[in-house]
Amino acid sequence: MKNVSIFGLGYVGLSTAVCFSSNNINVVGYDIDKSKVDMLNRGIPTIYEEGLEELLKVSLKNRKITFTSDYKEAIIKSDITFITVGTPSKEDKSIDLSYVESAAAQIGEALREKNTWHLVVVKSTVVPGTTEGLVCRTIEKTSGKKCGLDFGICMNPEFLKEGSAIRDTLNPDRIIIGEYDRKSGDYLEDFYRQFYDNMLPPVLRTSLINAELIKYANNAFLAMKISFINMIANLCQVLPKSDVEDVARGIGYDKRIGSLFLKAGIGWGGSCFPKDLAALKSFSRSLNLDLPLLDATIIVNEYQPINAVNLVESKMGSLKDKVIAVLGLAFKAGTDDIRESIAIKLVEELIKRGAKVKVYDPAAMKNAFKKLGDQVYYAKDPLDCVSNADCAIVATEWEDFKKISAKQFKELMRRPLVFDGRRIYNPKEYENEVEFLAIGLGKKESEIPKTRIGASLNPSLAVNAIVAKEEGILLLKRKNEPFKGFWSLPGGFVEYGETVEEAVKREVKEETGLTVEPEKLIGVYSERNRHPGRHVVAVCYSASIKEGEVSLNLEENEEVKFFRFIEIPKNLAFDHNKMILDYLRIAKNMK
Ligand code: UGA
Repeated sequence: MKNVSIFGLGYVGLSTAVCFSSNNINVVGYDIDKSKVDMLNRGIPTIYEEGLEELLKVSLKNRKITFTSDYKEAIIKSDITFITVGTPSKEDKSIDLSYVESAAAQIGEALREKNTWHLVVVKSTVVPGTTEGLVCRTIEKTSGKKCGLDFGICMNPEFLKEGSAIRDTLNPDRIIIGEYDRKSGDYLEDFYRQFYDNMLPPVLRTSLINAELIKYANNAFLAMKISFINMIANLCQVLPKSDVEDVARGIGYDKRIGSLFLKAGIGWGGSCFPKDLAALKSFSRSLNLDLPLLDATIIVNEYQPINAVNLVESKMGSLKDKVIAVLGLAFKAGTDDIRESIAIKLVEELIKRGAKVKVYDPAAMKNAFKKLGDQVYYAKDPLDCVSNADCAIVATEWEDFKKISAKQFKELMRRPLVFDGRRIYNPKEYENEVEFLAIGLGKKESEIPKTRIGASLNPSLAVNAIVAKEEGILLLKRKNEPFKGFWSLPGGFVEYGETVEEAVKREVKEETGLTVEPEKLIGVYSERNRHPGRHVVAVCYSASIKEGEVSLNLEENEEVKFFRFIEIPKNLAFDHNKMILDYLRIAKNMK
C-alpha cells in the first residue's frame, strides 16, 4: 500500500486521514496549527464526527497515523499527498485560494529534497483551472521540478457531509479522478482500488478541470434541488389543502428526480453550499457569464428565513416585544456548526423586528453565543425555551425537538403558536392543540384572501446608483447588460443582512471599482401589490466618489456616459418600461 500525507486537518482532511489509516494505510497528517497536531497525537479529535474518535484511537494505537507540523517530514514519509486545506470566501465572495497556494508551496519545497516521483492530489474545492494553474505552477516553482515528469497531479473532489463524514468517506457514491496525465490517474485509481477493494464504487477518470467543475456542479445542483422544493413550499403556503411534503414525496418517486434533498425548510446553510455557490457565481462573472439558475437558487434561499418571519408576523402582527422561541441554531442537526446557519439569520431578523428571542440548541449554544452575544436568552432545554413564548419556531431538525408534544407547547407557551420550519411535526396531531404553521403547508380555505396579492417571492431589492462627478452624473451599467445610457434594470441585490446603503456601496464597488458614499435617495420604485408590506423593489441613490477613477468594464464601441444631475421624481410608479422611459426623458432633457 502507498503511504499518504494529508495537508490540512479540517473536516475533510481529518475524516479522510482516519478512514485511510483505519484500513492499514500509513498516514501522516500535517497542519500548521501546532495545538491541533498535539491534540490529535493525543487521540483528542478536534471536530465532532460520529465514529471519528474511535477510528483515531485505533489508528494511533496501531501506529498507522501520526500528526506533524513539519511539512517536509510529511512529504518524505509519503508517496501521495492530499491537499485538504480550506478554501473560504473572500470579502467579495470570490474564492480565497491562499491556503491552497501555501500548501502547494510547502509541498514544492519539500519535493525539492525528494528524489522519487510523488503524486499530489487536490481534494480542496477549487475553481476550475486552479489545479493545473496555481497548484501545478507553484509546486514547479518551489521544487524546481516538472509536473508530469518528477511529480504527478490529480484533482479528486470530496463529497462527504458534516455529521456523516466517516460513513460517507467509507461508502462514497463514486470516485472522481481528474488527472494531469495517465500515470497520475493510474496511480490514484490503483490506490483507491486497494483501499476499497470489493467495495470500490464507480470511478470516473477525467480532466482536472472537469473534476473541479463536478464538485461545484454537484453542490450547486443539490442546493438548487432544495431551493426548488422551498419555492414549491412557498407556493403551497398560499394554496388551500396543499402540503409540500406530499408534493416532494410524489416527485421523489420519479427516479429521474429522486427523493433525497427534497426536504423543504427555512433554507440551506453550512460551510459548503453558500461558499461554493458564491465562488461559482463570482468565477462565472469573471468570465462575463451569467448562471441564472444559480442566482435563483441563492435568492430563494436568502428570502426563505425572511419568508418564515413574514409568515409568523402575518399571524401575530408586529413582532415588537413578542417573545419568540427559536428551537435550533446549528445549520443542520447533528453538528455544532453554525456557519451560514439559516437559524442564526432567522434569529437576527426577529431581533431586527423588535422581538425578544429565546434560543436553544443541543450542540451549538457555545458557537451561537460567539455570534449572538447577549442579544438573546439562552434556554436550559427545549421546554425552558418555549415556556411563556408567544411563538415557537423550529429552525433545526434535531431529534430532541420532535419529542415536544402539542400538549406541552400548549401548556407551556403564553400563546401556543408553533411554526415548524423543518417539517418535523405531523400537522394533524398539532393543529388540534395549537395554532400551527409550517413551511409548505397550505392555508385553511377560510384563511386564503379573496384577492390574490401576486408573487412575494422575489426578494430582490434592485439598486440603482447614480454617481455624481463634478457636474455630471454617471448612470452605471451592470457588466452583462447592454449599455443604454442609464442603469439597466434590475440593478442588483441587497444581500441578506445588508442595508440598502451598504448594497449601493458594494454594487458600485463591484461594477466599477469606485468607493462611493451614498448620499441621497432620489427614487424609490415599488409596487405594493407585487411586494406587500415592507418590500421596496428598486432604489435609486445618488452617490459621490470617495476613491478611485471611473473604469468600467466596457465592450468595444461602448462609452461611459455622464449626464447632468437632476433629481428624479420620487413617485415614479414601479414599471420597468415606465422607469426606463423616465430615465430616457431625463437624460434627454439634460443634454
Ligand atoms: C454538503 C454536501 O451535501 C456534501 O456532498 C459536500 O461534500 C459538502 O457540502 C461539501 O462541499 O463539503 P454539508 O454542508 O455537510 O454537505 O451539509 P448537507 O447535509 O448537504 O446540508 C446542507 C444544508 O441543506 C443544511 O442547512 C440542511 O439543513 C439543508 N437541507 C439539506 C435542506 O434544507 N433540505 C434537504 O433536503 C437537505
